[in-house]
Amino acid sequence: MKKTVAIILAAGKGTRMGAQVAKQYLEVDGRPLLYYTIKAFEESNIDEIVLVVGKGEEGYCKEKVADRYAFTKISHIVEGGKERYNSVYEGLKVAGECSYVLIHDGARPCLTSELINETLQEVKEKKACVVGMPVKDTIKVIDSRGQVVDTPERSTLMITQTPQAFDYSLIMQAYKKLFTTEDINVTDDAMVVETMLEQKVFMVKGDYQNIKVTTPEDLVVVRQFLKYVE
Ligand code: CTP
Ligand code: MG
Repeated sequence: MKKTVAIILAAGKGTRMGAQVAKQYLEVDGRPLLYYTIKAFEESNIDEIVLVVGKGEEGYCKEKVADRYAFTKISHIVEGGKERYNSVYEGLKVAGECSYVLIHDGARPCLTSELINETLQEVKEKKACVVGMPVKDTIKVIDSRGQVVDTPERSTLMITQTPQAFDYSLIMQAYKKLFTTEDINVTDDAMVVETMLEQKVFMVKGDYQNIKVTTPEDLVVVRQFLKYVE
């Protein structure tokens, strides 16, 4: 049986957070956010972890995160790219021949090993699945002037989280095709599969605590959520 791999993305700059360091290195209870993210995967059924980091941050990440906390599943630490999809592709290339791959935002440190295991279970059946939760607010579609043009039925809307899990050859095929197109405009991995292949993507129940740390107020709640993690 081929191995399962998690690609953890930590090559972003954290512009919207506006901190001195990239948000994945901000500390909660003396440990970087990235520690909590990796820990969940380390304790899950995933076989290997590929860490995608910013240019020149490989050494720092190895010393301050991988070695410092003695993680055993990290197989590669590689440099990411300009956009998130470039970083994903770098991760996919080093993941090599594996059965399934879970792609996760390093900036979502509150996921549980249970959620990872459930996603892994689902992808074996569905080939492409993403984690998400029902939208709580009413969503409006607006035009460039701010005028409301549509109010989609709320019960059909889901917020999309990560992990996003795929059959490895399927996601590789989708990404390879993506890079042959012009004007790439994708915001998650599922969208690459949805637009490049005729493959159905399924949603798995996520967790409202599995938020992405994006702006400073997110850090306040993440601190609470991480309170009981060792
Ligand atoms: N990411 C990445 N490579 C990029 C851009 C983003 O690996 N070129 C990662 C981030 O590190 C993060 C995840 O993708 O874990 C989600 O991206 P986002 O929340 O947008 O993070 P940043 O790009 O760092 O933040 P911002 O957009 O505010 O600059
Ligand atoms: Mg970004």
